[in-house]
Amino acid sequence: MKRIQSASELEAYRQECMASRDPQRTVITICAGTGCQAHGCSNVVAAMQQELDKQGLDQVEVKATGCHGFCERGPLVVIHPQGVFYNKVKVEDVPDIIARTVKEGEVIESLLYALPATKEQISLEKDVPFYKLQERIIFGSNGLIDPTSIDDYLAIGGYQALSKALTGMTTDAVLDEVKISGLRGRGGGGFPTGRKWESTRDVDSGVKYVICNADEGDPGAYMDRSLLEGNPHSVIEGMLLGAYAVGATEGYVYVRHEYPLAVANLTMALEAAREMGFLGQNILGSGFNFDIKISRGGGAFVCGESSALIASIEGQVGEPRAKHIHMAESGLWGKPTVLNNVETWANVPVIIDKGAELFRSIGTEGSPGTKIFSLVGKVNNTGLVEVPMGISLREIIFDIGGGIPGGRSFKAVQTGGPSGGCIPEEHLDLQVDFDELDKVGSMMGSGGMIVMDDRTCMVDVAKYFLNFLKGESCGKCTTCREGILRMYEILDKITRGEGELSDLDMLEKLASVVQEASMCGLGKTAPNPVLSTLRYFRDEYLAHINDKKCPAGVCKDLIHFEIDPDACTGCHKCARVCPVDAAHGKKKEPHEIDQEKCIKCGMCYDACKFDAVKII
Ligand SMILES: Cc1cc2nc3c(=O)[nH]c(=O)nc-3n(C[C@H](O)[C@H](O)[C@H](O)COP(=O)(O)O)c2cc1C
Ligand code: SF4
Ligand code: SF4
Ligand code: SF4
Ligand code: FES
Repeated sequence: MKRIQSASELEAYRQECMASRDPQRTVITICAGTGCQAHGCSNVVAAMQQELDKQGLDQVEVKATGCHGFCERGPLVVIHPQGVFYNKVKVEDVPDIIARTVKEGEVIESLLYALPATKEQISLEKDVPFYKLQERIIFGSNGLIDPTSIDDYLAIGGYQALSKALTGMTTDAVLDEVKISGLRGRGGGGFPTGRKWESTRDVDSGVKYVICNADEGDPGAYMDRSLLEGNPHSVIEGMLLGAYAVGATEGYVYVRHEYPLAVANLTMALEAAREMGFLGQNILGSGFNFDIKISRGGGAFVCGESSALIASIEGQVGEPRAKHIHMAESGLWGKPTVLNNVETWANVPVIIDKGAELFRSIGTEGSPGTKIFSLVGKVNNTGLVEVPMGISLREIIFDIGGGIPGGRSFKAVQTGGPSGGCIPEEHLDLQVDFDELDKVGSMMGSGGMIVMDDRTCMVDVAKYFLNFLKGESCGKCTTCREGILRMYEILDKITRGEGELSDLDMLEKLASVVQEASMCGLGKTAPNPVLSTLRYFRDEYLAHINDKKCPAGVCKDLIHFEIDPDACTGCHKCARVCPVDAAHGKKKEPHEIDQEKCIKCGMCYDACKFDAVKII
């Protein structure tokens, strides 16, 4: 690999990369992110290459890319330059794709995405509603480039921001641009990135560090993993720019061990960047020196907290520390340190390359730019969506997410990870940004968004998150260690039908103590799921306590299943799916459920097409 020694050499090499990529050439991009790998995309990639070889179509390129976002429809195949979009592609489909679409320009209807409501089929990626309303300034390149090829990154303008900064901007100018952009940290707190950098820049020290937080512990969130897997150079370039601005010479990416593909692609990207001279000594002949190491975490949620993360890199127990001294003064190994989230770092090259003003033109006054959300739960289109800040929850859930499946109704959306809050229907038009989410008792967190339908019990949801948090508390603070456990026990009691009205007061009192007296963000925010469900869904708590009923039909101790003989057709399906032979009856005659045997799994309820199984 050629070592690039100056900005002009970089530009000349970029031109070569671009020239070797004819925009009219047929390129078949296949998502090779972790989600699509689980759907078997590696076999599709291999079959596609084999078929092209067999047919002698060496002018057609197959590109295994990072995550495109629409993971539930994977494996995804897009044929460029037209942008024909195929979903759920299998190895058996490959010969047809080549014979009909690649050679004849014909669209294969059976592989197209169909709108859930109307079944209308959509041919082009850009017209799929899931993508249409997104603004993918950070995540868009994931679907276009091979993350293992630095040339691919260079061909789309990669390391242009670095070259601009090192050759034409002072360190202060880079910092000012980030400050003007209004970029706020995407890892949870939303702290202004430029201000954080400034505090570190202002400390006089020969050694400073920048760190990328890729711990990503929120259940269901995977945007940081997908960015590292699909576009690792964008994160490296962001860190280079940050290091230049604050005067750091060493960086770390702290990434959880459970992300093997992210680690592999990042390792490869670091090696390529080093070989080409974007990392190391005298980068682009500017005199700036910087390099990055990977530090692997063991997967504890609390290790995403800044002081616990630093302790973990240093080889100490990954527990939060009291922050008497600011990280800007004494962070990693006691030196001034900047810690930012993966997505925050990936925003920086865009800001330096395109300018702070352009960045500010996206999003809201208080939260400029975009945010990647992990849209999951009871929504038709699940996956990663990058949207401008200020978009409404309704647009994300109904226009991009395609609404609630199975004709059911929306009940709530949980944002902000395990210690976020549940937002009810009355706030669906809320314009999503850091401040608006705070106002309704939730938070942005790292961008988890779990949609819930009318069959979700909100007491059970609060119990689920507290169960997670009680397991992740490091145990240092009594209030967090014991308080979350006590709150969980009360919720459990309520879901078993043994709750009393005084339990609600106790939950609120405990919440206040846990928030006030816990040391780190885990304890301080842990009561949120309880407080937000009590605030918006108190009637559900009361139904569990006063009527001993679970209105959503979820809490097993408060429900049983019965078959309505008038609605039952005797189709026998419930009997076939029942794992314990509790549902029984003769074919074409009304069936019954043996309550003694029934384990309340709900499979008969889901299976019955005639709505004859009732939750009582
Ligand atoms: C319990 C806990 C877990 C956290 N986990 C993460 C994480 O996985 N990723 C992350 O970027 N920030 C996480 N944070 C926030 C970090 O402490 C820190 O604020 C963030 O990485 C700073 O980067 P930013 O300014 O770019 O958001 C966590 C905080 C707490 C209290
Ligand atoms: S608040 Fe909880 S997780 Fe944080 S330091 Fe205290 S015990 Fe540990
Ligand atoms: S699946 Fe429904 S309709 Fe069929 S036998 Fe069972 S309860 Fe009756
Ligand atoms: S709820 Fe489960 S165990 Fe009970 S009858 Fe239905 S399928 Fe059988
Ligand atoms: S992993 Fe393939 S679309 Fe997300």
